[in-house]
Amino acid sequence: MNKSIVLIICSLTFFTQNIFSQSLTAKDKRVIDELMGKMTLEEKIGQLNQLDFGMDVTGPAISKDVEQKIKEGKVGSLLNAYTPEVVRKLQDIAVKETRLHIPILFGNDVIHGHQTTFPVPLALSCTWNMPLIERCAQIAAKEASADGLKWTFSPMVDITRDPRWGRVVEGSGEDPYLGSCIAKAMVKGYQGKDLRSDSSIMACVKHFALYGAAEAGRDYNTVDMSRIRMYQYYFPPYKAGVDAGAGSVMTSFNEIDAMPASGNKWLMNDVLRKQWGFKGFIVTDYAAINEMTPHGLGDLKDNVVRAMNAGVDMDMVGEGYLSYLKKLLQGNKITLQQINVACRRILEAKAMLGLLDDPYKYCSEERAAKVNLAPAHRQTARDAAARSCVLLKNDNQLLPLSKGKTIALIGPLADDKKNLSGSWDDYGDWKNAVSVLEGIKNGQGNDVNILYAKGCNLVEDQHTIDVLNESGEGLKKDERSVETMLNEALEQANKADIIVAVLGEAKGMTGEATSRAEIGIPENQKDLLKALVKTGKPVVLVLMNGRPLTLQWENQHVPAILETWFGGLEAGNAIADVLFGKYNPSGKLTQCFPLSLGQIPVYYNYKKTGRPFDDKSLEKYKSRYFDIPNAPLYTFGYGLSYTTFQYSDVRLSTTMPKGNQTLQAAVTITNTGKYAGEETAQLYITDPVASVTRSVKELKGFQKVLLQPGESKEITFDITPEELKFYNEKLAYIWEPGEFIIHIGTNSNEVKSAKVKWMK
Ligand code: BGC
Repeated sequence: MNKSIVLIICSLTFFTQNIFSQSLTAKDKRVIDELMGKMTLEEKIGQLNQLDFGMDVTGPAISKDVEQKIKEGKVGSLLNAYTPEVVRKLQDIAVKETRLHIPILFGNDVIHGHQTTFPVPLALSCTWNMPLIERCAQIAAKEASADGLKWTFSPMVDITRDPRWGRVVEGSGEDPYLGSCIAKAMVKGYQGKDLRSDSSIMACVKHFALYGAAEAGRDYNTVDMSRIRMYQYYFPPYKAGVDAGAGSVMTSFNEIDAMPASGNKWLMNDVLRKQWGFKGFIVTDYAAINEMTPHGLGDLKDNVVRAMNAGVDMDMVGEGYLSYLKKLLQGNKITLQQINVACRRILEAKAMLGLLDDPYKYCSEERAAKVNLAPAHRQTARDAAARSCVLLKNDNQLLPLSKGKTIALIGPLADDKKNLSGSWDDYGDWKNAVSVLEGIKNGQGNDVNILYAKGCNLVEDQHTIDVLNESGEGLKKDERSVETMLNEALEQANKADIIVAVLGEAKGMTGEATSRAEIGIPENQKDLLKALVKTGKPVVLVLMNGRPLTLQWENQHVPAILETWFGGLEAGNAIADVLFGKYNPSGKLTQCFPLSLGQIPVYYNYKKTGRPFDDKSLEKYKSRYFDIPNAPLYTFGYGLSYTTFQYSDVRLSTTMPKGNQTLQAAVTITNTGKYAGEETAQLYITDPVASVTRSVKELKGFQKVLLQPGESKEITFDITPEELKFYNEKLAYIWEPGEFIIHIGTNSNEVKSAKVKWMK
């Protein structure tokens, strides 16, 4: 481990190829023209309709009479239908029993792996490792395509600043630059070089737009935001996904400027199509056109007109298009041209995916059996899970654990497999996962003495259990009493040299519709942790969760904290690798952990105010809380290693760059500790004076470097005016000459800085 990476440089200009727009051949165009010439109005409308086959469901609407509707040519796409058998059976109906034999496009939420589950996306983002993230998407595509899927509703690229929102787990955190790099890597991984290849699937950038900014972190809630904030901080990852060639974009549930995204013409037409040149098709989120009615925008018919006028091509599950487009056309509320455009876009996607040539070639039991859970895939999952871990605290170098000790492994997640993969783990079997207890036994069985106790239930509070079980979590309380479980845990703890407590959220507490108002570890688990700390034995807290948590008490009282997120089916092996030093943790946070709930939203790239705060001063009229600091507990980019890294001052190739010149900013990083380790050096830039207010600093680059103990390496960032650009009051993307501060460091707070004056 720790050996494969020498240097990874992320650059947004790295992936220039737009796969999607290059894949339509002259033959495809001819076939589509011929089809369009033959299609009836009803058949065209059918292509715009996506139904839910019901193998997993995320919303209240479930499609009825799916097979009959396919026969009648009323289905262009299906979700929640997979496995070669199921897909072949449904595709057979479309291809053999409809007049024009147009195949169905099968899509689904392949979010972090298919049968081989990788760490949840928020965890993967903490690797800051683009080749690895791309590889995970590639493996997911390989497995999902063998199971008959040709389209994933991923990447989810919503910027998030509020950890109460449960879907932070599905994204890449708070930063637009890192989020853009990840969006590109994932699109590239899913779609590959050739969308027609057996193992590529089409990507869908979602949820356009601003879904991560739901007020108060409550899912599906209102969003209200200035345009300048949208363009500067929230739009870049969507645009990056589109630039990388994503074949589709999904609308979000929320409103923007008082209009839900699915009916928002400015967003879909002006921004996405005209400004960004998006050529693929737009699908709604689940029944999102229908949901415009409870939003207060009248009946479904009116909202179908809105969606059509916005340029939304496919209606997910709601059947509004199916029910009303013909009538609306007859009433001159929409035009045939609008239906033709949408239908053509969907046929183009099918052509580019190779479905018009061979509707079945992706369904292969043989290939599915070979690729799903392949040893190499599991090995990548293990590597990814280890690299996702973020070491939050490690007093007195308590970690890594040494051999020959007695370890009390305690907690409801210590020998758990069901929660390890987090949300969107529907395709695999949780029984294939490796728990932490198993991981330690696999790796260190002979070297350590392991004592185990569950210690408490994952959740004790009946209301939370009822809510989780309502959505099928199947949580059961242990038959033993709280006291019995605690006593057993304390008995084991008292016999041990060191306690490893594996605690966190149930996987059902994160993901869609899982907003939490309190974001600590559940109270009953905290009681267990307090009792373990009270024993006086050293405690390592291993966290599994899908969002930043409030950890003030834990940070004050527990000497070592390792954030492992939901690491996928190899999590147990990977966590054992990290705990015992086989892998030296290198993950860095991509979203701040608040000190207290009252700070939310808290993020590193906040705007300057007219009353800047100085934490050494008690001055009153400043932008501050008087009871707590402004700073989060753990900031963006933060993460420790078993070794230590020292940064030199920043060296600049010039302090007076001009025009389009490239400025080089270098630092030397030295491994000053005892272990080989990987560091992610981060480049931030401050624009102290501009024509609009700017953030205190913004991430503009990062590089990973592996260093042996005592080794030093120089790393250099090339900076051009591209990195200085921002959206001005006219929403033009420009840079303005003047002074800039270049920061390079180990996280967004601990940096070395140097100034330049950059003139035109
Ligand atoms: C979610 C989407 C998902 C869709 C289909 C919706 O409820 O918001 O992210 O892709 O369901 O499963």
